[in-house]
Amino acid sequence: MSNARCLLPVLLLLSLSACGAGEPAELVQAERDTAAKLVAAFASSLKAELQTAIAEGGPVAGIRTCAERAPSIATEVTANHPDWSLRRIGTRVRNAATNTPTEAERAVLDSFAAMPADQRPGPLAAADPDQPRRLYKPIFIAEPICLTCHGPAEQLAPEVRGELAKHYPDDAATGYAMGDLRGAFVVEKR
Ligand code: HEC
Repeated sequence: MSNARCLLPVLLLLSLSACGAGEPAELVQAERDTAAKLVAAFASSLKAELQTAIAEGGPVAGIRTCAERAPSIATEVTANHPDWSLRRIGTRVRNAATNTPTEAERAVLDSFAAMPADQRPGPLAAADPDQPRRLYKPIFIAEPICLTCHGPAEQLAPEVRGELAKHYPDDAATGYAMGDLRGAFVVEKR
């Protein structure tokens, strides 16, 4: 009797750890908090650098910041969190090499796009059932500055259009309006 009583917690523990070794476990609250901090730091650094670059060098300098600094800011923000990665995906993409959503991610974006306006900007959520350790945060066009480079192509300044065409001949990330879903931040723990 007393043996059985001792065994039960042991069995429970064993089954829990067996679970952990197989399927990737969902993130615990502390990990979700870390994820939220990393996304917030990525978003605010990127925006700050973009605003500074545009204020100092105009939108063409901003394009360079977005292209060159976005991946390096992601690396800097995760420097002390080597198990984590950060990236962005787009509903339509400018940099198809790094920012194209997978099929599952496209479904995630579709669900964000259907989100009622009063629920925005939306949570940092695990939205891909096959990737429970990958969290998504929607990115809406919330500020007019975004339209400088993502607004309707015919409304972009000629130098912006020229610079974009030079670096992104297959650019699909124009034609957005205020309030549109632009994409998502993707944060993942290995
Ligand atoms: C000065 C021009 C410029 C401005 C302003 C700008 N972007 Fe971008 N954006 C770019 C460029 C260039 C890329 C491609 C970056 C790369 O090569 O990875 C990009 C890429 C993105 C992506 C990744 C998906 C993709 O299309 O490759 C998202 C999401 C995004 N921008 C959102 C925004 C939001 C939101 C704002 C407003 C806060 C904004 N951008 C303002 C130039 C700009």
